Amino acid sequence: MESCAEATQRIARISAHLLPPNFQMEGSSVLKRADCRAKGGAPGFKVAILGAAGGIGQPLAMLMKMNPLVSVLHLYDVVNTPGVTADISHMDTGAVVRGFLGQPQLENALTGMDLVIIPAGVPRKPGMTRDDLFNINAGIVRTLCEGIAKSCPKAIVNLISNPVNSTVPIAAEVFKKAGTYDPKRLLGVTMLDVVRANTFVAEVLGLDPREVDVPVVGGHAGVTILPLLSQVKPPCFFTPEETEYLTKRIQDGGTEVVQAKAGIGSATLSMAYAAVKFADACLRGLRGDAGVVECSFVASEVTELPFFATKVRLGRNGAEEIFQLGPLNEYERIGLEKAKKELEASIQKGVSFIRK
Ligand code: 2OP
Repeated sequence: MESCAEATQRIARISAHLLPPNFQMEGSSVLKRADCRAKGGAPGFKVAILGAAGGIGQPLAMLMKMNPLVSVLHLYDVVNTPGVTADISHMDTGAVVRGFLGQPQLENALTGMDLVIIPAGVPRKPGMTRDDLFNINAGIVRTLCEGIAKSCPKAIVNLISNPVNSTVPIAAEVFKKAGTYDPKRLLGVTMLDVVRANTFVAEVLGLDPREVDVPVVGGHAGVTILPLLSQVKPPCFFTPEETEYLTKRIQDGGTEVVQAKAGIGSATLSMAYAAVKFADACLRGLRGDAGVVECSFVASEVTELPFFATKVRLGRNGAEEIFQLGPLNEYERIGLEKAKKELEASIQKGVSFIRK
């Protein structure tokens, strides 16, 4: 038989779905959210998406609403969140969705969150590099991270906003200034590079991409994206031509989409897919699952640089273990030197933006 607590939780859950926060019923006597006896629904994690009404944010919000590990989903943006929230809140999955519009609502959007995913910012247009987005996106990331430091300093942060090679150092500096920095909890999302690498390698080998695992290290822009084709699972061999083709295609995957979209923006659907794959891994780590390992751009001692993407083990505290690069072949060693040179400048640019 259902206990009183379970019944209360069930009623609260139904009410939360019936009355999304942006839905006003003037003069109505219908039960309001504030009257609910319990907040939230199924047991699970509380996740906020900052930039939820954007090109990446919308499919990301939809996919997170489908994730059974999520009990509460907060959607924040500076425009259009009421519509996106109303739309997504009608999906009959477990997570309760709430929308937050504009900076005055940032604090409420973030309070109590376990995981914050940030796709906010402007995308690339043809001819632009990710670094060309720095001037606009750096300020956006700073503001959002100041909010996180204030309202949910213990949350795991998944940073997608480009240029990731600079925005992750920006976030770290903001958290240091606020006295809340925990390097394990700040993760730059490089999963799309891995997703692309798995897909393109599978194409060349004639395999199902789900059977392929390509470690991609370094960063998330051009030559800083370094697929380690010598470490692909299942073990395989590539000719020099295949190695060159695959490395370039993986490094230029984002540009391939920017050019195909011809001015409309950059990858949104595959980016959202990859971000959700990574967020799900973070949530499984938070839940205490063993052996959750993914690539991410994190504070690192693997190279002489303060940040670097490698495989990391995700646990209750975020990136709990950072794996070494493993044996590299000559082609990868040359690529690593190129990647480090560009990464160093991008990291410094991010740090200077806050310290200046
Ligand atoms: C990409 O790689 C949007 O940075 C993202 O396409």
